[in-house]
Amino acid sequence: MVTVERGALATVGARVARVAPAHRYAVLSDTTVAGIFWPTVLHSFGEKAVELFTIPPGEHHKTRESWAMLTDQLLAHGYARDTTVVALGGGVVGDLAGFVAATYMRGVPVVQVPTTLQAMIDASIGGKTGVDTPAGKNLVGAFHQPAEVIIDPTVLESLPPRQLNAGMAEAIKHGVIASAEYFRLVSQPADMADIIAGSVRIKTEVVARDVREGGLRRVLNFGHTIGHAIETLSRFDLLHGEAVAIGMVIESRLAERLTLAERGTAEAVCAAVGRSQLPTALPAGMRALDIVSLTHSDKKVRKGRVEYALPRAIGAMAGADTGWGIAVDDDDVIATLAQD
Ligand SMILES: NC(=O)c1ccc[n+]([C@@H]2O[C@H](COP(=O)([O-])OP(=O)(O)OC[C@H]3O[C@@H](n4cnc5c(N)ncnc54)[C@H](O)[C@@H]3O)[C@@H](O)[C@H]2O)c1
Ligand SMILES: [Zn+2]
Repeated sequence: MVTVERGALATVGARVARVAPAHRYAVLSDTTVAGIFWPTVLHSFGEKAVELFTIPPGEHHKTRESWAMLTDQLLAHGYARDTTVVALGGGVVGDLAGFVAATYMRGVPVVQVPTTLQAMIDASIGGKTGVDTPAGKNLVGAFHQPAEVIIDPTVLESLPPRQLNAGMAEAIKHGVIASAEYFRLVSQPADMADIIAGSVRIKTEVVARDVREGGLRRVLNFGHTIGHAIETLSRFDLLHGEAVAIGMVIESRLAERLTLAERGTAEAVCAAVGRSQLPTALPAGMRALDIVSLTHSDKKVRKGRVEYALPRAIGAMAGADTGWGIAVDDDDVIATLAQD
C-alpha cells in the first residue's frame, strides 16, 4: 500500500505500528536526512520503542559493509524477529535498509518512508532492495515488498532543486511509457502531490502486472540503456535522473529512426525534459562509440544486439509482441547519437 499525504511524517510512528506492529522499531537513515527529520519521526512514535541507526549520505555507502554494520548494530542492540525496520531517506537508504530487513533474522517487515522524489516515485515502489559491489551497482540484493510506503510530499521542501529535477526524469518516463494524460501533467507546472500520486499509480500498476521482472516491467527501462552508459561515462558527475533525461531524448529519437515511434515523440520528450531544467544533449566530449560499447555491458543483450524499451507514442510502448524488448543494431544507435 502507498499513502501520499501532506504532513504524514508527523504521524509516521502510529502508521507504522498499524501496518507492521512490532515489539521494537528500528529507523534506518542517512545523517543528512536524520538531521532534518529524526525529531519529527521520533516524536511520532510516542511511547513505542524506537531507535535510529544511520549511515553517511551517498551512493558509495550503499555497500555490503554498510549492510553488515547496520545488521551488527541491530544484533548488538538485541533486536529480535519482532522488529519492524523503517527506511527513512532517499533511494540509497531505501535499498540498503530494505536489504537489511530482507535478511535480518531471515526477513522482518520494512516500511519505506522515502524523502527524495526519486525514491517516492521509483525506488520505494516494487520491492527491489540491495547494495552495490565493486563489480557494479545493485548486484547483490533481494525482492522484499514493503508493508507500506508512506509519502509526505512536504519533505521535498528541503531537497536541493537539482535532486528534485532529477526525480522529475522518472516522472516524465512514467508519462511516456503509460499515459499521455500524465505526461501532460508533468510537462507543465503542477502540484507535487498530484505528480507523485500519478507516478506511484503507474509504477505500481506496471510492477503489479510483472512482479519478478519477466516482461512488462522492462518498459520501465526506457531511457536507461543509454542513460546508464552516460551516467557511467560522466563518472557520476551527472545524477542518475540527469543521465536518464538525456537517455530518454536519444532513445525516443532512436525509436523514430526505426519508425517505431510516431513522429514528434522525441520532440515532445525533449521539451518536457527541458522544462524540468534537465539536460537534453550529451555532455561535451562524450563519444558515441564509448556509449555504444557500454550499452553492451548492460544485462539486456540478445545475440549481440542490445535490447531497448522504446516508445510507440507518448503514453504507449512498442514491442508488445517481443516481450517489450527491441533488439537494435549498434549502427542505428551510432547514427542517432550523431544527430545530437
Ligand atoms: N529499488 C529500486 O527499484 C530503485 C529504483 C531506482 C533507484 N534506486 C536506487 O536509488 C538510489 C538513488 O536514490 P536517490 O536519488 O534518492 O539518492 P540518495 O538516497 O542518495 O539521496 C540524495 C541526497 O539527498 C539527501 N536527501 C534525501 N532526502 C532529503 C530531503 N528531504 N531533504 C534534503 N536532503 C535530502 C540525501 O542525504 C542524499 O545526499 C540509487 O542507489 C539507485 O540505485 C532503486
Ligand atoms: Zn531510473
